[in-house]
Amino acid sequence: MASWIVVSAAFASINLCLSIREMEYFSPQSCKELMHRYKTTEDGLYYLSTPSGTVYQTYCDMTTAGGGWTLVASVHENNLYGKCTTGDRWSSQQGGHANVPEGDGSWSNTVTFGTAEAATSDDFKNPGYYDITAEDVAVWHVPNNEQVNQWKQTSFLRYHTETKFLNSYGGNLYNLFKRFPVKYNVGSCPADHGPSVPVVYDVGDAASNHNLYGPNIRAMTDPGFITFRALNYEKAAMAICSGVKLKDCHTEHCCIGGGGHFPEASPRQCGDFTSFDWDGYGTHAHWSASKQLTEAAVLIFYR
Ligand code: G3P
Ligand code: CA
Ligand code: CA
Repeated sequence: MASWIVVSAAFASINLCLSIREMEYFSPQSCKELMHRYKTTEDGLYYLSTPSGTVYQTYCDMTTAGGGWTLVASVHENNLYGKCTTGDRWSSQQGGHANVPEGDGSWSNTVTFGTAEAATSDDFKNPGYYDITAEDVAVWHVPNNEQVNQWKQTSFLRYHTETKFLNSYGGNLYNLFKRFPVKYNVGSCPADHGPSVPVVYDVGDAASNHNLYGPNIRAMTDPGFITFRALNYEKAAMAICSGVKLKDCHTEHCCIGGGGHFPEASPRQCGDFTSFDWDGYGTHAHWSASKQLTEAAVLIFYR
């Protein structure tokens, strides 16, 4: 007993006395660094550090396509009937209005929220979103409220990019969205969409991903891509169109996140999952997405 106290006290004093430089040495800044420096091969929750020494916990996928994937964000829809209301952190919690063109601004600011463990039950954004320099992204669609140890088994879509496209956009989505602001009235569709990047599926496939959207928007998209910063006919901006490349501008039925103003029938399309419910919640008819897609969080990883 006595020796346990001495040992734990010694560890406590070591932990309390670490300088930022030592923190950097001991705490990796990404799951990729964790994997390479410490030969860590297990999926799960780990502690990472920011360059300035803030320690945070997130999930590392150490096995998919070589591993080293850091969870940096999740987009969760808590209430599709609320239109840019509480919980719409990836669009606007301030109502839908032209006076708040960027909404909450989460795609290109350094505000963080949520916890890794709650990433399928609420929005999550950690400092890795803006301070990790990465090359590729992975996306998982995981049913709402699943516990961490169930994410991998219950995810019905998992895919990743392999083109190292982030090298051309500042090394992460924070910088990409600085270049392509998720903000109302910054450009026109289709001329000013951000990049569409081909994806490789780890769970599901391009067709099954496509099929989860409503038939109307399916006819206006090509499967097998992820698109960043889409615009619609009314100049509303959205952040991510998961699994598709756009051929038309009714993008609000297949893209998530957004600025603070969606003029068409405002504020009906405003919210984290935009207008997935245009023809009814989870009906999977006309423009509406399936219930499965509507009730699943979108987890975003970097490597
Ligand atoms: O995005 C769909 C909307 O612009 C038109 O909807 O109901 O007239 O087919 P609707
Ligand atoms: Ca949300
Ligand atoms: Ca429309």
